[in-house]
Amino acid sequence: MTDMSVTQILFRDAEKTDAKAIAALYRLAAGGVADVVWEAFREGDEDVVEAGARRYARDGEDFSYQNCALAEARGRTVGLLHAFPMHADPDFDPSDMDPVLRPYADLEEPDSYYIAGIALRPEARGRGIGTKMLRLAELRALTRGFSKLSLIAFEENKKAVRLYERLGYRTTDSRDVVPHPFVEYDGRALLMVKAL
Ligand SMILES: CC(C)(COP(=O)(O)OP(=O)(O)OC[C@H]1O[C@@H](n2cnc3c(N)ncnc32)[C@H](O)[C@@H]1OP(=O)(O)O)[C@@H](O)C(=O)NCCC(=O)NCCS
Repeated sequence: MTDMSVTQILFRDAEKTDAKAIAALYRLAAGGVADVVWEAFREGDEDVVEAGARRYARDGEDFSYQNCALAEARGRTVGLLHAFPMHADPDFDPSDMDPVLRPYADLEEPDSYYIAGIALRPEARGRGIGTKMLRLAELRALTRGFSKLSLIAFEENKKAVRLYERLGYRTTDSRDVVPHPFVEYDGRALLMVKAL
């Protein structure tokens, strides 16, 4: 196994061919919610990650490889940062939504640079790479003219919540997680915002 403590980490923009690696990493961040979404898009005998990869391979969408950066160690993809501008859609009616997904649609911070997913492979965690990816998100937000970042975290994901709080994110709203066989968390989903 790669010794992450001495390995140089490189960050790069994702390409279309990274779509499957992105989907696999996003799945680590989403606590089962990605599976709820992708299950509905599954075609033929593809598995849920392949369905997710098909979605990430699209151009011009929020959930596109074009909004992803990857962390690499010795040529191997170990981490994902997926972020994009959160734009309020005045025509969007959340009452039509799957109730399992509704809490995450409700927890939107308008005019923020939204971190949709951040994840590292287990062997790459606890080495400061996540902190660097969050700093990269801040840089991207600032260069795109945003004055705040937002993300959604499960309150039960204590390690992640502690990291965000240490970096200046504050909880501004929350919703109950709606139970579903795929969703790994109970408790509350938190909207966390950082002013830049
Ligand atoms: C959450 C996540 C992205 C954080 O990334 P990370 O690289 O592990 O985070 P960091 O290493 O920057 O910080 C985590 C801890 O490691 C410590 N750390 C930071 N730099 C370190 C270093 N060089 N050496 C050792 N430890 C270090 C931090 O102090 C922090 O400690 P804490 O647990 O006491 O808060 C990662 O753990 C992950 O992928 N988790 C699974 C997916 C997930 O839950 N995503 C978030 C969804 S909201």
